[in-house]
Amino acid sequence: MKITVLTLFPQMYEGFLNASIIKRILDKKLAEIKVVDIRDYSLDKHRHVDDTPYGGGAGMLMKVDVVHRALLNNISNDYTYTVLTSPKARPLKQSDLERLSKLDEMVIICGHYEGIDYRIERYVDEKVSIGDYVLTGGELPSMVLIDGILRLLDEGISADSLKEESFTADLLEYPQYTRPVEYNGDSVPEVLQNGNHELIRKYNLKMALKETLINRPDLLENRQLSEEERKLLAEVVSEM
Ligand code: ADE
Repeated sequence: MKITVLTLFPQMYEGFLNASIIKRILDKKLAEIKVVDIRDYSLDKHRHVDDTPYGGGAGMLMKVDVVHRALLNNISNDYTYTVLTSPKARPLKQSDLERLSKLDEMVIICGHYEGIDYRIERYVDEKVSIGDYVLTGGELPSMVLIDGILRLLDEGISADSLKEESFTADLLEYPQYTRPVEYNGDSVPEVLQNGNHELIRKYNLKMALKETLINRPDLLENRQLSEEERKLLAEVVSEM
């Protein structure tokens, strides 16, 4: 998969693309990321990329012609999937990452300042928000998007942990433990210390239901519970 990012702040990506799992995925050529400086597409001798809004109002807007030129010069064809980061969209979900991870090519336009001239939306396939709050620009949201997509392409994690994720889709992760077996009087649950896979699976599912009930009860309202999940959730409630 090739992802091209159009940004006014290419330097923000240096650490992100050169560390940890993201670096490993890029080194393995499972994906290619190209970071493009939108300012290179300004025709103005001062390299201006923004201007004041018509009708007045605070702040500056990114110019549609500059952003569109950056886009046209960095896509292979008219069908290249184009995403615009914006707080004015439905917040991103794991299922969006799964869908986007299947694309061959994607361009992400990072909005900045007070926004972009509205006419850019004609060239955009999808707007992506990372949550109902406003950031200074689209760089962090684009990194969130890239991080979430690239980890799905990673063979290193895909097999087991992705299966686990789909098994508990729309539930929060169950609690996990490593050594020491006891810390400050807190012990690792007995069932996890013996090797009975079926008991462990059931216990982990029950704890995932419990975590979800406590932290994100809204997720349970939207989920069709299986017979087993209904039983385990009833146990959780009766033990609380
Ligand atoms: N730009 C500013 N805030 C944003 C958000 N929450 N999501 C995506 N893009 C943004």
